[in-house]
Amino acid sequence: MMQNWFEDAKLGIFIHYGIYAVKGIAESWSFFNGRISYEEYMEQLEGFTASKFDAGSWAELIEKAGAKYAVLTSKHHDGVALFDTKYSDLSVMKKTPAKKDIIKEFNNALEKRGIHIGVYYSLIDWSHPDYPSVYANGEIPEDLSKVNRFSNPTDGVQDEDKWKRFLEFNNHQLSELLTNYGKVDLLWFDGDWERSAKQWNLPSFKEYLQSFNKDIIINSRLQGYGDYKTPEQGIPITRPEGPWEFCTTINDSWGYVPHDNHYKTLKQIIRMFVDCISMGGNMLLDVGPMEDGTIPEQQQDILIGLGNWIRQNEEAIHGTREGIMQRYWAGGSTLSKDKKTLYLFVHDTPQESLCLKGLSTPIKRISVLHTSKELKHEVHGGVPWFNIPGTTWIYISPEDANEHITVIKVELEDEIDMYGGAGAVVTHN
Ligand code: GLC
Repeated sequence: MMQNWFEDAKLGIFIHYGIYAVKGIAESWSFFNGRISYEEYMEQLEGFTASKFDAGSWAELIEKAGAKYAVLTSKHHDGVALFDTKYSDLSVMKKTPAKKDIIKEFNNALEKRGIHIGVYYSLIDWSHPDYPSVYANGEIPEDLSKVNRFSNPTDGVQDEDKWKRFLEFNNHQLSELLTNYGKVDLLWFDGDWERSAKQWNLPSFKEYLQSFNKDIIINSRLQGYGDYKTPEQGIPITRPEGPWEFCTTINDSWGYVPHDNHYKTLKQIIRMFVDCISMGGNMLLDVGPMEDGTIPEQQQDILIGLGNWIRQNEEAIHGTREGIMQRYWAGGSTLSKDKKTLYLFVHDTPQESLCLKGLSTPIKRISVLHTSKELKHEVHGGVPWFNIPGTTWIYISPEDANEHITVIKVELEDEIDMYGGAGAVVTHN
């Protein structure tokens, strides 16, 4: 069920932490796609130490980033659990020198800081012997040579009992995560695409999860049964319907890949964030810690930079709602919940004046948010007796700009009202 806290939160931090950080290769996909053998991939278990893992400092960084929730990979498609599970030996507790329940320590640390707890859980388990027992939709492919042995049977024979056992296994692990790890606010599923809703036993599966916590939020990677959409890597151009969250890497990798230096800049990350919240979405920004638990400095710097900007502009961000359409204002914007304050995001150094069209509500005051400096404005044109508003010009000079994105606070006399018409010929003056 969708909770208000989620739509108010705006920023979450995604963490892909796992044994894949040992060799610095792609999480799970590297063996699935044959870039490395399964055996070589699993050798990483021996190198996973989490020796510098400090849940408290992760939580502190998340708070500094201005994020209100975090989502950590409790188990990726490789099946390696970051928590102490009774139902499998494949966990960092039992199979790695780390011998730590990472999820327990992390969730405790989040709870202490009042950060909402999200748990990523891969529905897919490419290590579990019962997982490759059926085909998507139960349809046996014509060409069995193309079947990936980690996902499906290679001999064309399906085994429904095995599949049922696998579902029970997932249910068991999820019951552990939902009972032994504090109050989990959000479940972030991944990998639903390999089976149909019927095979995942939906909607019963969702009801089962809600029986642990009726307020839990579940992402939509659940064959149509989730609470919010999760576009990934490419920012939506059209606003997704309903609540949504854009997940993105800082460079090109979810996990720690040391040779991936294709980082987005801080400005670009702030810009992406603003684009999301202007369309009513959240951003889930990912970091990939090293095997010892250190978050690479470059990633930390981006998080801290983003947090500094958020703090300067707090009231335009947390708790706001999506702004006005870009045909009114050539940039992003948000609105206060009471719809009486409009926040305009100015991406570049302003020259002379900003142009806001179609605003019908009278303006009380306009200021630069991070300095509180009042700005002059003028309204030109308009045909009041036809209810066609004029254009608002807001005077601003380059010195008023924020180092990243400048927020202009427009306080209104009443709830915002925008004109959407095509104008008119003025037949009487
Ligand atoms: C993809 C990948 C996965 C990653 C996820 C994050 O679906 O399967 O590796 O964890 O995206 O959104």
